[in-house]
Amino acid sequence: MPDTATNQITATMPQVLIGKTALVTGASRGIGAALAEGLAAAGARVVICDLPAQAADMDAVAARIVAAGGTADTRALNVTDSAALAEAVAAITEATGGIDILVNNAGILKPSRLEDLSEADWDAHMDVNAKGVLLMTNAVIPQMRARGAGRIINIASIAGRQGVPTQGHYAATKATAITLTRVYAQELGPDGITVNAICPGIILTEMGRNNLGSQENIDHWTNVAALRRLGAPGDVTGPTVFFASDLSAFVTGQALNVDGGIYFH
Ligand SMILES: NC(=O)c1ccc[n+]([C@@H]2O[C@H](COP(=O)([O-])OP(=O)(O)OC[C@H]3O[C@@H](n4cnc5c(N)ncnc54)[C@H](O)[C@@H]3O)[C@@H](O)[C@H]2O)c1
Repeated sequence: MPDTATNQITATMPQVLIGKTALVTGASRGIGAALAEGLAAAGARVVICDLPAQAADMDAVAARIVAAGGTADTRALNVTDSAALAEAVAAITEATGGIDILVNNAGILKPSRLEDLSEADWDAHMDVNAKGVLLMTNAVIPQMRARGAGRIINIASIAGRQGVPTQGHYAATKATAITLTRVYAQELGPDGITVNAICPGIILTEMGRNNLGSQENIDHWTNVAALRRLGAPGDVTGPTVFFASDLSAFVTGQALNVDGGIYFH
């Protein structure tokens, strides 16, 4: 179900993305689902992408968008599968006329101290959270470049700035996502494509709740946050629409913390 913050923000969303097509990865639930709904509320046609096993949840997100008066398609897509990405981008471009906005949101987190981390878990996190951003971005660049415009938004994490115990491998992937953002921004700026990152703090999704574990941890981080609350998925929507729209036309290569005031660098 959509969270309260999503409902509030989508109800008042400025219509700044009319005529645009947005592809959101990992959009069957959590932050990705809220971003898909928010981009649709701002007027974009949204392509909801996630792993094939998430088909029913993708359909549910699409149904909510359509019920709210928006336009949504779904597409099974594993961001680590470069051949499938090329095929998907070609099919979506054919169907929609082009992908104007790419949101690299798909991600995984399985906590472990670094000394206990298996090689397989290191590789899995690097594959999805870092290489997935590279492969997906490279797949959409040619058709953005052909139109001389594009918006790419990478969902990183404040973990990627700070490093967090039991999340060293995850933090390394998110630091990579921030670095990719800065380099792509410089490489793609001449083609009219902006690339920015969002660094969410603690957002109460399946990943966020699993990661926090106990009520004690929830209370602790609620008290650390300047705004004295943890995030809802919809809290990431406004900044994403900003980076997706012409409101941010002169902003590129930036990473914005969206964390209620937990981290200040
Ligand atoms: N929840 C938080 O506190 C938090 C904080 C900072 C950053 N983030 C980041 O935000 C993004 C979304 O997180 P969330 O909390 O909504 O997590 P989530 O686990 O609820 O959702 C992640 C989605 O990514 C999909 N996914 C996983 N592997 C994939 C793959 N190979 N190809 C395509 N899709 C795949 C999953 O199926 C799922 O739908 C992630 O990149 C995460 O690292 C989350």
